[in-house]
Amino acid sequence: MPRLPMRSLLGLTALTNLAAADTDYTQYVNPFMGTTNGGNRFPGVVAAPFAMVKLGPDVQSGTTDAYSGYLASGNVWGFSLTHESGTGGAPKYGVVSQMPVVGTVPNPLADLSQPRASADVATIGYYKTSLANGITVELAASEHAGLYQYIFPNNTTPNIVVDVSHVLPSFRGLGWEQHYSGGSISTFDDGHYEGSGTYNNGWNLSPNWNIYFCGKFEQKVSTVKTFRGTGTNLTSYGKGGTVSGTDRLGAVFTFEDATITSRVGISFISTTRACANLDAEIPSKTKLQALVTQAKSRWNTQVFSKIRIGPGANNADLQLLYSSLLGMFTIPSNKTSENPKWQSAEPYYDDVFTLWDTHRCHTSLFHVLEPVAHEEFIRSLIDIWRHDGFMPDARSSNFNGRVQGGSNADNVLADAYVKGVRGNVNWEDGFAAMRTDAEVVPPNNFDPKAPDSSTKEGRGALPDWIKYGYITPAFTRAVSRAVEYSTNDFGLYQVAKGLGKTADEQKYLKRSRNWRNHWNPNATSNGHSGFVVPRLANGSFVPQDPLSCGGCYWGDAYYEDNPWVYSLNALHDIGTLKKLSGGDAKFVDRIDKLFDLKIFNAGNEPSFLSPYLYNFVNGQQWRSVQRSRNNVGNLYNAGASGLPGNSDAGAMEANILWQMIGLYPMTGQTTFLILSPWFPQMTIDLGNGKTLVITTTGGDKNTAPYVQSLKVNGKQWYKSWVTWEDIFANGGTMDFVLGSTTMGWDTGELPPAPASGD
Ligand SMILES: *[C@@H]1O[C@H](CO)[C@@H](O)[C@H](O)[C@H]1NC(C)=O
Ligand SMILES: *[C@@H]1O[C@H](CO)[C@@H](O)[C@H](O)[C@H]1NC(C)=O
Ligand SMILES: *[C@@H]1O[C@H](CO)[C@@H](O)[C@H](O)[C@H]1NC(C)=O
Ligand SMILES: *[C@@H]1O[C@H](CO)[C@@H](O)[C@H](O)[C@H]1NC(C)=O
Ligand SMILES: *[C@@H]1O[C@H](CO)[C@@H](O)[C@H](O)[C@H]1NC(C)=O
Repeated sequence: MPRLPMRSLLGLTALTNLAAADTDYTQYVNPFMGTTNGGNRFPGVVAAPFAMVKLGPDVQSGTTDAYSGYLASGNVWGFSLTHESGTGGAPKYGVVSQMPVVGTVPNPLADLSQPRASADVATIGYYKTSLANGITVELAASEHAGLYQYIFPNNTTPNIVVDVSHVLPSFRGLGWEQHYSGGSISTFDDGHYEGSGTYNNGWNLSPNWNIYFCGKFEQKVSTVKTFRGTGTNLTSYGKGGTVSGTDRLGAVFTFEDATITSRVGISFISTTRACANLDAEIPSKTKLQALVTQAKSRWNTQVFSKIRIGPGANNADLQLLYSSLLGMFTIPSNKTSENPKWQSAEPYYDDVFTLWDTHRCHTSLFHVLEPVAHEEFIRSLIDIWRHDGFMPDARSSNFNGRVQGGSNADNVLADAYVKGVRGNVNWEDGFAAMRTDAEVVPPNNFDPKAPDSSTKEGRGALPDWIKYGYITPAFTRAVSRAVEYSTNDFGLYQVAKGLGKTADEQKYLKRSRNWRNHWNPNATSNGHSGFVVPRLANGSFVPQDPLSCGGCYWGDAYYEDNPWVYSLNALHDIGTLKKLSGGDAKFVDRIDKLFDLKIFNAGNEPSFLSPYLYNFVNGQQWRSVQRSRNNVGNLYNAGASGLPGNSDAGAMEANILWQMIGLYPMTGQTTFLILSPWFPQMTIDLGNGKTLVITTTGGDKNTAPYVQSLKVNGKQWYKSWVTWEDIFANGGTMDFVLGSTTMGWDTGELPPAPASGD
């Protein structure tokens, strides 16, 4: 916990600031959190939040997909500078690599992989792998460059192999594997090398994209040989110089020293820029430790110190808190000034993986903790629309894709708008970008998984949405898309209202209610009637078991979850949902059934909000607390297997962080549902000197989590919710009395259900 300086006689504010600056929060961070058990988080070096370079090992283990490059067991076959974090689907990136090899290298195209001698070691800004052949590899980085430090066994010949064709493979057979399509490398007399690689496909079905690199060694290169070939067949292997083309190709650097330090810069624009990035950020003779110190300082200042915990917290909770914050801001990547597609004064962020995952609760915490980056991110989404035609739902290698449900950038923009994000955001353009999603059918990209309409961007099923007010089975994922399109249109309503566009305001509010058109009151399951189901063009509902979603995938009526879950997902229209469900008691029982029937999946985003909808019934908030603790909070820890599902670019981590804070956001609205905070005292730095201070007394995370009473900004509080204005806009306080007894303290006005008129 934060170490309070003993120098007193400074004002309280000064004390708090000193405490923040003095505390090294990185001591609580486990970079391996969520790396196994399907979490797929990236444990390697990320020198600052949103850094473009993510330097770490690439591991192979049979036909297991290594989504972030890393696997806990298996052979290391390179250390590359680009990775995603926490994604599913298929691996992306893992390009621009080096691999150290001992002895002679008869064939650099052969399998050069090595088992580890021991488990990898990582702290913020630092990574170490010990290979079975005696080589130790240590890594550090800056935002656009990496530093490799190799120690070879004595009395061996050290080599570094640079294989331009190195890219993370996928073995799933879904057509989402990446391909190397060519490259070039040039070696120079001073021992440095430059070049580029071209790759395509991956989960977002990207066309060819290029990356440029510039590598230098601190030690003298004794010999260099370039190579090329096909598969593992060498067709040339000779002196340095330039090789290029569509073959596999690269270079082998051989040294006399046993300790080799290499610095490698990357760029999406040119080799010149890759070298400039390198020399600006990691000049010659930079010490690895200096980069590590810099990385720790960046993460402490920019991220970790934003949430400060008072005395009385246990270490495991602090580790979960700060390790989750690392996972939240590892991606997207800030590629401002590294956009190869257009020139613009706007910021540019890539590796959005995906808004389908992150809009539900990452978006609002991103805004609270990193308002500067969040505004840049919003501007970047709008600038992508300006130049690529649509905002992304997902994006990597500078290419939009894929869209799983709705156009959720609409929800992200609406959330920012209603919470007063203005700054340098051009909101007329922002609304125009949202309107494109709502009115323009994106060109079909003929995705083999869903050939009916675009999976690249926008709303592929828009023709039905506009014509019928629902989506027929002519379109895949018809029902889950319809529910999401409703929330997207609610986002347009919110922004149109703010901008004074009255006609659009009315239009999109009406459209946001269209999820109701999929509601079949006669669909029944486990004592409940009324579920969202498929609907034909002639208006008939299709018979549907509410417990089943068929294959739950790209070609089915529901994506990744079933009718029970999607029926609770129109979060802007909960008043109607309660009515359609049969009133308060039935509604409470419906949420209970998610758990009784084991439908609830804490590891999948469409389930995220459901456990807290009890707050929409007076006196039932304690049930949300119970779920928060027993069905969500207890599934997480800071260990390697500590995430209940894919990190999904930090969506899963944001979910646990909100539980710890004791609030849950309703994206696109200013409402936060009240849960139960984990810590005796938490101070959230909101920027510009504003703070939100949340205290609890009488609580115990496991045995006494229930709210007995609450004061907000010093006033007794009876509502199960607060607004952005109450506690975030200008800061505020929330003082909870917690206990082991369930209490119906929440007798006040219910949370808003802004679309629940007719
Ligand atoms: C190599 O030899 C040097 C000098 O004896 C020694 O300091 C170093 O630890 C040895 N390195 C390894 C990896 O054994
Ligand atoms: C490598 O060369 C051998 C012999 O010419 C040939 O049979 C084999 O198909 C080649 N493999 C690849 C991957 O090109
Ligand atoms: C993003 O990158 C640009 C260019 O390097 C930089 O000016 C900006 O401050 C970065 N944003 C954040 C939030 O670090
Ligand atoms: C539901 O069933 C009742 C009774 O069979 C029927 O009258 C009604 O039309 C049905 N409603 C719908 C929407 O199918
Ligand atoms: C709609 O079409 C389906 C399938 O052709 C048919 O079974 C159903 O009876 C039709 N409903 C109406 C109201 O015409």
